[in-house]
Amino acid sequence: MSPTTILHCFSSFFFLFVILPHHSNADVGTSARYSPPYLPSGCYGTEASQFPSTNLFAAAGDGIWDNGAACGRQYRVRCISAEEPRTCIPDQSIQIKIVDYAASAVSPPSTAGTTMVLSDKAFGTIANASASMINIEFQQ
Ligand SMILES: *[C@@H]1O[C@H](CO)[C@@H](O)[C@H](O)[C@H]1NC(C)=O
Repeated sequence: MSPTTILHCFSSFFFLFVILPHHSNADVGTSARYSPPYLPSGCYGTEASQFPSTNLFAAAGDGIWDNGAACGRQYRVRCISAEEPRTCIPDQSIQIKIVDYAASAVSPPSTAGTTMVLSDKAFGTIANASASMINIEFQQ
């Protein structure tokens, strides 16, 4: 390897792993939506009182479920893009609480395998409610 190649590798590494994470600790992922019934949930069984009264909640996908440790975590979520243009509602973000595990939720998600599955209310607040999947930015 030439010195320039080494320098290039090093600066790429530096940028990706040292500068970027400090610039923003938000992650990107995908989100589907799901509809009632929401109970029983993988986190709280039939305890509806654990659900936020705003109806802004979500089921965690495998990437963030963390063996159940995700239950009760709050995330700020915003829609960044979708297959269909103009699906995201501009400048909207929501705060959601994880109440369920997507893979075992009573109601099936609109798309399988996403990072999280937002309640109808949460999804419709940041995107066109008839979309089945959106790309999101989320931060705990
Ligand atoms: C939402 O998406 C549907 C299906 O693509 C479309 O028909 C509808 O016009 C969209 N609604 C808004 C408010 O953009």
